[in-house]
Amino acid sequence: MYCVRTVTDNLYWVGANDHRTHLFENIHPIPRGVSYNAYLLMDKSTVLFDTVDWSVCRQLMENLDHLLGDRPLDYLVINHMEPDHGASIEEILIRWPNVKIISTAKAFMLMRQFGFTVDNQELIEVKEGDTFSFGSHTVTFIAAPMVHWPEAMVTFDTTNGVLFSADAFGSFRSLDGKLFADEFDFDREWIDDARRYYTNIVGKYGPQVVALLNKAASIVGLENIKFLCPLHGPVWRKDLGYIIDKYTHWATYEPEEKGVMIVYASMYGNTEAAAEVLAAKLTARGVTNTRLYDVSSTHVSYLISDLFKYSHLVLASVTYNLGIFPPMHNFLMDMKALNLQKRTVAIMGSGSWAPRSGALMKEEIESLKNMTILDEEMTVTSSLKADNESEIDALADAIAASVLK
Ligand code: FEO
Repeated sequence: MYCVRTVTDNLYWVGANDHRTHLFENIHPIPRGVSYNAYLLMDKSTVLFDTVDWSVCRQLMENLDHLLGDRPLDYLVINHMEPDHGASIEEILIRWPNVKIISTAKAFMLMRQFGFTVDNQELIEVKEGDTFSFGSHTVTFIAAPMVHWPEAMVTFDTTNGVLFSADAFGSFRSLDGKLFADEFDFDREWIDDARRYYTNIVGKYGPQVVALLNKAASIVGLENIKFLCPLHGPVWRKDLGYIIDKYTHWATYEPEEKGVMIVYASMYGNTEAAAEVLAAKLTARGVTNTRLYDVSSTHVSYLISDLFKYSHLVLASVTYNLGIFPPMHNFLMDMKALNLQKRTVAIMGSGSWAPRSGALMKEEIESLKNMTILDEEMTVTSSLKADNESEIDALADAIAASVLK
């Protein structure tokens, strides 16, 4: 049975939801699912913008069959070739063998690399600034390299103001009957999924996202964008400034909020207890926007997501094999991989017979750009005791002074 939604006149969402995949890209948990969005324009020509993951290909076909009826599919525009969007291309070609494919040179290269038989089709290679008319709708193409693969582009329909934004403005979580961001309380119900998607999937490519936002502003004018149609998550038709502002923060690594994220690594509960004491002391000093996470039981994608949200980070880790506790080390490596910047960090090391984690974590943070490390540090020897209170008070004072200034 088809399941489609109307985006605007003659434009339809023909994607599908996925509740079965546990790990997006086989790495990031998606307990609330994900949607793979594709869009069909019914103009003088019929045009499909992107396809879907292989797991939901059948739903895409039912949706297209329903809307197309006796009409053929004339064009397939591929904005992004990652398989969660490009995997169903060959099924499209089998069903509509005369479809013409519009995409970038790099995307055609990737289609061949993935083994798709595209060279029997008419391939229309486009580059930034090219335009194409499908009848009453004219689109222009904007290169979006590294948002989030090198071949990516976005497509702007100058007739109705729809920006097919590829991975940009995407989100985890399935749509489940809704389509538009204004059909639910996005800021309360959805923003955490959007942030976790952006920061973990596109987070490394902040400068490229900034470049795309600037190009969108200069080439089409932000005021001319009436709909944002990403490849995952809801479509935006109202209050586009809200999500553009979030993207501007994330892409420039500016924190959204003043607050403290405490991440601890603890083997027997002693470092955890010290982190709890620090959290209580921060609250007593008026720092209430805090989050406390056990790095061993929290998937790193959630830690990365909150790291892009809050201004301050406390790292508290036990020493393990004379190094940093492995899950904490993994968190630090993920920060580095995503090029995290512009955070203020406090360090709490711990250990029983050779506590080196504090110095090692400091080295890792120092290797990141534009980070501030507070001078006050402390090392917990086996467990926090009353005679350490002045040290942890000094640490709490320094963090509070930095947050509340
Ligand atoms: Fe949802 Fe980069 O693919």
